[in-house]
Amino acid sequence: MSPSDSNSPVHSDYDEKVNILTEHVSAASREKPDPTEGNEPPPLIAIMIAGFALIVGAGYLGGTNGGLSNDSFTFVEGYDVPPVPGGGVIEEQKPPGEIWLAEGKKQYSAICAACHQGNGQGQTGVYPPLANSEWVTGGTEQLAMIILNGIQGPITVDGQSYNSLMTPWKDALNDKQMAQVMSYIRMSWGNAEQVAENSGMVTAEMVAHARATHDIPGMKVSHLEGFDKDLPGAKVDPITMEPIGGGAAEGGATDEEPAGEE
Ligand code: HEC
Repeated sequence: MSPSDSNSPVHSDYDEKVNILTEHVSAASREKPDPTEGNEPPPLIAIMIAGFALIVGAGYLGGTNGGLSNDSFTFVEGYDVPPVPGGGVIEEQKPPGEIWLAEGKKQYSAICAACHQGNGQGQTGVYPPLANSEWVTGGTEQLAMIILNGIQGPITVDGQSYNSLMTPWKDALNDKQMAQVMSYIRMSWGNAEQVAENSGMVTAEMVAHARATHDIPGMKVSHLEGFDKDLPGAKVDPITMEPIGGGAAEGGATDEEPAGEE
């Protein structure tokens, strides 16, 4: 429309009653201004996603906050709370026997598991099992002799024959570590039910005795005859590691068992 049109005889209603210009301006001013860049309202979908995340997150926290008690946040398996210098007693000590076996498992995993496997099953025909092995669950003296000296030649384990070689481990493990490994394999994989009562745990003193008396290079099964008995030394409780039974003194001669004398 050109301005001259407003002078023509036929006017539109608008031309006569209202000022088009102000009418348009006021209409435009009622609208929201065009968003400038960086200032746009967030898209609806983003708001919905954020809202959804908030609801799910809150629901998760609500369900898993353990009543917001302190305990539920400080427990991490395998994490030992460091002792507080002031003497505040936070330390939750594991029983000595449990620590002993855990150390034994470490040695076992580092050295023995390569052949005898983590589950003690060995590898049929190649590496004999330690689970359900009469050499492991029998007397501690023959077991110590095998691990200290290694063993070669034919050996029957759990009804299966092997004819191979295991190198000595006497230089790889000190008395304590050897005792821990022996304890671990005697107490694992169902072996604990087969060892004689109270003879599952092996002490460093026992191993020291075996080390001092049985240095046998190239040891074979025949060397073990007569040694299917427990090493001298006080038996210890599997949980407290305190000496038990008969008041046997450390290093005491407790090998009066008739078995093995023949
Ligand atoms: C390199 C492989 C290898 C490693 C590592 C090894 N062994 Fe053996 N072990 C053998 C073999 C092979 C025999 C059987 C030897 C034979 O035929 O006379 C054997 C036999 C044994 C036996 C007697 C048989 C039985 O199965 O009960 C015991 C006990 C034993 N090992 C314990 C251990 C312990 C404990 C360790 C770790 C300190 C260990 N072995 C590490 C290969 C290994």
